[in-house]
Amino acid sequence: MHVEKTKLFELMKNKFVKAGVNEKTANAMAEVLVWADHRGIHSHGAVRVEYYAERIAKGGITNSPEYKFEKTGPSSAVLDADNGAGHEAARYAMERAIEIAEENGVAVVGIKHMSHSGALGYFTEMAAKQNMVALSVCQSDPMVVPFGGTEAYFGTNPIAFSAPSNDNRIITFDMATTVQAWGKVLDARSKGEKIPDTWAVDKNGAPTTDSKDVHALVPVAGPKGYGLMMMVDVLSGSLLGLPFGKHVSSMYHDLTKGRDLGQLHIVINPRYFTEIEVFKKQISTMLDELKEQPAAPGYGEIYYPGERGLLRAKKYDEAGGIEIVDDIYEYLISDDIHYDRFHGKNKFAE
Ligand code: NAI
Repeated sequence: MHVEKTKLFELMKNKFVKAGVNEKTANAMAEVLVWADHRGIHSHGAVRVEYYAERIAKGGITNSPEYKFEKTGPSSAVLDADNGAGHEAARYAMERAIEIAEENGVAVVGIKHMSHSGALGYFTEMAAKQNMVALSVCQSDPMVVPFGGTEAYFGTNPIAFSAPSNDNRIITFDMATTVQAWGKVLDARSKGEKIPDTWAVDKNGAPTTDSKDVHALVPVAGPKGYGLMMMVDVLSGSLLGLPFGKHVSSMYHDLTKGRDLGQLHIVINPRYFTEIEVFKKQISTMLDELKEQPAAPGYGEIYYPGERGLLRAKKYDEAGGIEIVDDIYEYLISDDIHYDRFHGKNKFAE
């Protein structure tokens, strides 16, 4: 089912308001979720609404958060988000980071005590639209083994990066540091399908193809992804004085409490390092050259990071709306807020 973008936005916003947050927060949440769905990042779009609504209704996302924003140096700042919605907090912090980088060349802004913020590329793109380069990283709940391990320690700790070109293209590289999202394993489970042996491990830490046997996910590219997820945890957890590693709060365990998560934005103003127009032109040339590269058999063409999302968005616009799973649409148009499905579940929402 295809749902027109503004209609989807309204449906999501109304749910969040009904669940208890103020209109401004609901707007920010819906905007980031629609951004993700529009680009085909469905793991971080409408599928999450019911969970967020339950968490809001149970008090685990502060309805009208009181932010404390502190400039801690010429280029650094920390936002205490009062365990409000991460989407709104991360957006607010990125707006401040862009202002600081405009004035001082670089900004490093941490957000502490926030809830889940969704797809991180939304925030780094905000900076690229203002001719800045941005990186954003955040913690998530533990469900990944350290390389060679048997028990989950880190989360799927994502990294996003955006940079502007001198045409309307923006590079947005935005990934979890795991091979696959847990949602893909759940999907295989529900269909009784096997999974590739590169996605996850069983309780002995051995690769498994049995989706029902999955005990934890694995880092992308073995020890390298493990190092990256550790880096993300240090930058968005310990650096902000927050819980780290396996101590990061679970998404589903207790929906009545704030999650105390962290995120870090790093924004660089290219003007302080080089000629901005030369920089942007070079990014455009890079993308042109990549698009001209010959594709290997079976690949069709070379894409730059973020390009496939934009192509998906174009397809959805041509189709008159974003593709949304029927069950999710039924929930969105219903009067129900949530069905008590998530509170008290384990790390895999089971
Ligand atoms: P993915 O695997 O779909 O894509 C990762 C990156 O690879 C993207 O930048 C994409 O543009 C690029 N890409 C994919 N196929 C490509 C191709 N053929 N050619 C060139 N580039 C290509 O993303 P993943 O890892 O599933 O993450 C999805 C979303 O989940 C992200 O938005 C991430 O921020 C979010 N996330 C959020 C978390 C949170 O706690 N807030 C936790 C984990 C992920």
